[in-house]
Amino acid sequence: MTVEETLAGLHTSALAQLEQASTLDAIEAVRVETLGRKGRINDVSKEMGKLPPEEKARIGKLLNETKRDLEVRIDARKNALELAALEARLNAEWIDLTEPAPGVRPGSLHPVTIIQKELEQLFTSLGFAVLDGPEVELEEYNFDKLNIPPHHPARDMQDTFWLKADPGEKSRVLRTHTSPVQLRGLETLKPPLKMIAPGRVFRNEEVDASHEHTFYQLEGMMVDREVSVAHLIYFMKTFLSEVFHRDVTVRLRPGFFPFVEPGFELDIRCLICGGKGCAVCKRSGWVELCPCGLVHPEVLRAGGADPEIWNGFAFGLGLTRLAMMRYAVDDIRLFMSGDLRFLTQFRQ
Ligand code: FA5
Repeated sequence: MTVEETLAGLHTSALAQLEQASTLDAIEAVRVETLGRKGRINDVSKEMGKLPPEEKARIGKLLNETKRDLEVRIDARKNALELAALEARLNAEWIDLTEPAPGVRPGSLHPVTIIQKELEQLFTSLGFAVLDGPEVELEEYNFDKLNIPPHHPARDMQDTFWLKADPGEKSRVLRTHTSPVQLRGLETLKPPLKMIAPGRVFRNEEVDASHEHTFYQLEGMMVDREVSVAHLIYFMKTFLSEVFHRDVTVRLRPGFFPFVEPGFELDIRCLICGGKGCAVCKRSGWVELCPCGLVHPEVLRAGGADPEIWNGFAFGLGLTRLAMMRYAVDDIRLFMSGDLRFLTQFRQ
């Protein structure tokens, strides 16, 4: 067999092998067998030495052409295979980002937020401003300026989370109620004023069906000349009938809070059991919902208002408790449980 024939045979069989090779490894094996250091092309080039000099140039050229041709074809086959693999992956992983995703459930507002928004709308329509106050509050605002001096037994009414204060720094607490916003309101709005302040409050509570350590209140205050208990009762009745969309039975009993004088507890007949007695109303048939009273002169003074000129009423609505009553929820812990079975019931 001439060298030319050997080269032609080598070329044909390499191309046939290449045709068969369906993986990158198989193609590499063909390359090594044909073009590798110990490959068939090299075997041929070793034979070249035996050729007469006039043949050497011609066969050398042919050998290089064969080699070059196989290199190009092997590379092309490799690229084609890689491209096919890439395309297959692309087809498998391709997603249309503009298509609506399957199974997405629309979110909904938390039941406490629903009631808070309703009350904000109602009170705004009655001319009240909606204020916000810090959840990490100065001790001074949470207690002192509300006529609860240090060591006063009234401080024990609300078991408090205290924050560590550096020397020289003012002492801070997680606010135990929204009442500190009364003072912030007096300071910023100046009387006459009507304001509400919904928000989150914190107490070191023993958690049970009706007590949480983190819950919501809505503070309300009106300061003007000659405000009386009659004004207070009017606003209470208006907002309660609005919230429950029906008549609710309420009772006022005397209540002690150092920042009001006189002070009351406004209770509503338990809407869970209709007054028969259940876990939420602690078998009493009544739920304590909204302490209230006329703003204490000391509080007005602490907020920069002259109590000889101004007076007012204030109330501190338990917003989470109100949500319990409105939606007949018999365990307060559900509100912060993050349980979708509970939360999705309030879609509007
Ligand atoms: C206060 O927090 C006073 N700042 C309210 C006030 C404001 C009185 C203005 C007078 C004038 P009290 O601690 O009772 O009061 O709480 C108010 C309401 O928050 C309660 O009636 C109740 O509805 C709700 N509440 C109290 N503790 C909890 C608790 N652990 N979990 C859920 N709701 C609570």
